[in-house]
Amino acid sequence: MRDKKYDIAVFGLGVMGLNLSLNLADKGISVIASDPLAAPVKAARAVLEPRVALSETPEDAIPMLSTPRRILMMVKAGEPTDMLIDRLAKVLEPGDILVDGGNTHFRDTQARQKRLIERGIRLVGLGVSGGETGARLGPALMAGGDAEAVAALTPLLSAIAAKTHDGESCFGAFGPGGAGHFVKMAHNGIEYALMQIFAELYLLLEGPGGMKPGEIGKLLESWNTGITASYLLEVSAKVLAAVDRETGKPLVEIIRDRAAHKGTGQWTAEAGLELGVAVPAIAAAFSARVLSSRRPQTAGRVPLPLQASFDAAALTNDIRAALPLAMLNAYAQGFALIAEASQTYGWNTDLAGAARVWRAGCIIRAALLEPIVEALQSTGSDLMQTQFASTLVASGEMALRRIVAAGISAGVPIPVLASGIAYLDGLCAPRIGASLIQGQRDFFGAHTFERMDRAGAFRHDWQNDE
Ligand code: 6PG
Repeated sequence: MRDKKYDIAVFGLGVMGLNLSLNLADKGISVIASDPLAAPVKAARAVLEPRVALSETPEDAIPMLSTPRRILMMVKAGEPTDMLIDRLAKVLEPGDILVDGGNTHFRDTQARQKRLIERGIRLVGLGVSGGETGARLGPALMAGGDAEAVAALTPLLSAIAAKTHDGESCFGAFGPGGAGHFVKMAHNGIEYALMQIFAELYLLLEGPGGMKPGEIGKLLESWNTGITASYLLEVSAKVLAAVDRETGKPLVEIIRDRAAHKGTGQWTAEAGLELGVAVPAIAAAFSARVLSSRRPQTAGRVPLPLQASFDAAALTNDIRAALPLAMLNAYAQGFALIAEASQTYGWNTDLAGAARVWRAGCIIRAALLEPIVEALQSTGSDLMQTQFASTLVASGEMALRRIVAAGISAGVPIPVLASGIAYLDGLCAPRIGASLIQGQRDFFGAHTFERMDRAGAFRHDWQNDE
């Protein structure tokens, strides 16, 4: 045992590290695991041994790894990751490969890569999606970093990743630097938008639709087929169907109406602002979470004569018809963000490849990703300009307008659905009001404007207008 050289080390024995270790062992990969703290190592013995070897400390495992050493860090993003890297940097050698499987901001990954490469250590940022079950049975994995280091990891990571229905591995490499963590961040931004879309559909079906949570759960379950089939729809249906064991009430009415977050949705919205990419669905979903925890305790203003009755059957049909388009908006914004980042940072990220990797194992897996892969492969990076998007707009636009109108007239907060219509109109309406903005800018700031009839930058003589 002492002389055995292991294929990979996993450091960090929380839920994700434990399950990934077992997943690696299942695939015949020899693993030695440890944790920066003693207690998790002790607790892991019963779960991991003898299939996964354990060492008392991360440092003890280093001489037991085959070279170049491959180390998967599964500790919390931020300070715990820095602390572990500092410890390991003292014992690693040039050529060794560190993998950060946390939800790390891509800029942190890039700063650490720069620092570590001075000592010849290569850091790969690895987005891991799918939670506990994904880690155990097959996550979606998104790598970014030095190409040679990624290649040395590929057989191992491909083996443990989820497999699609056609047998493809959901492991993808998306470019150098922080590309992998960026793709995972965009995944999470889309995740926020989709989750909020399902929350808004629930409110519409409950309020204007007059349905009970359990009925809505059943309805959503019946929609989990064809183009709308998706993991988050399935999860939403199950949450809505759940009953609180103590009170017998629908669980969704017992859970406090306040959403938490750990920051990745915020980062995605920030990246949109920074890169100049409109991501209104993601930003609105993030704002909705923020707002949910800043509401006055006495929420419940009903002063206006809001519309109270609706044709429930028509509304339900419209919601179903609008759903693919609402979902497409969320994905399209995520892909537009990745495309811009790839261009700006020179990553050469394969967008269709990201869509392929997201088809299984991850939280945003959905049937819609199959046609998205094809559309991105054949038409390029702008999903909203594809034939597939036109088809969904044709079949869903009027329904989406009607459900947004219903939500607004009933006082139901539907920021992401509403932003979906504003996004489409912003892209496609004949006039969008930007000419007036340019006029205003020229009026008070002499910023100039372009003209439709000839090229150049122009000013208007505002002082001498009537
Ligand atoms: C995944 C998830 C996961 C993420 C949580 C956090 O892909 O498995 O994205 O990585 O940590 O879902 O999201 P919150 O910000 O909602 O806590």
